[in-house]
Amino acid sequence: MAEVNLLARYPKSKRNVKARVGNKEENRALAMKFGREYFDGTREQGYGGFRYDGRWVPIAEDIVRHFGLKAGDRVLDIGCAKGFLVKDLMKACPGLEVFGIDVSEYAVLNCEPEVTGRLHVGDARKLPFPDNSFKVTLSINVIHNFERDGCIQALREMQRVAPAGGYVQVDAYRSPEEEQIFLDWVLTAKTHGTPQFWVELLKEAGYSGDYFWTILEVDPEWIVE
Ligand SMILES: C[S@@+](CC[C@H](N)C(=O)[O-])C[C@H]1O[C@@H](n2cnc3c(N)ncnc32)[C@H](O)[C@@H]1O
Repeated sequence: MAEVNLLARYPKSKRNVKARVGNKEENRALAMKFGREYFDGTREQGYGGFRYDGRWVPIAEDIVRHFGLKAGDRVLDIGCAKGFLVKDLMKACPGLEVFGIDVSEYAVLNCEPEVTGRLHVGDARKLPFPDNSFKVTLSINVIHNFERDGCIQALREMQRVAPAGGYVQVDAYRSPEEEQIFLDWVLTAKTHGTPQFWVELLKEAGYSGDYFWTILEVDPEWIVE
């Protein structure tokens, strides 16, 4: 198990944290359905337009390099949404067998054309795949959406279907200031804490893959009024 930031080349975006403070409960209820509003509704409800723009290309290259992936290896992206990373992994490593699973029927039905047939609708806490059926599983910004027990279940499922390799990224904060920014911004996360909190949880689940954190840093550039 190693802390490694495989999203180091993911672009930082400006977030209008204050805009989400109003109507928070209404927006949260909509977002948690992981339907059209969450992906393609307003920024207050979720992504505010979830469209492919190539930002996952360098991350896919780093994932291929980090895990030494080659043609024929099988990779599962858990919480794959519309399959942007699935598509870019296949581009980064021709012949790689990449699949995705997501609870959102909306996302899977509106997937990138290149990944049609590779994405399943299903739950990260009960993966419909046999033991040891993938070389690597990825789960980026998904597992914090579960209650604590669900996080453990989802991590155990990752370990079961790909005992040799995994990458988990979850929301975290390192100070009360970062925690407040996180609470103002977040819509769907049910379990959250410091990196240390997560390391303990990963250990408890018996997860042996790699991991890193999504931290909404206290950067005035990100707080656009
Ligand atoms: C913050 S998005 C991350 C999407 C993508 N991994 C990324 O980093 O762009 C969270 C994703 O988790 C999915 N999700 C939420 N609950 C899930 C569950 N129980 N099983 C599988 N996917 C789930 C949502 O539909 C959504 O696509």
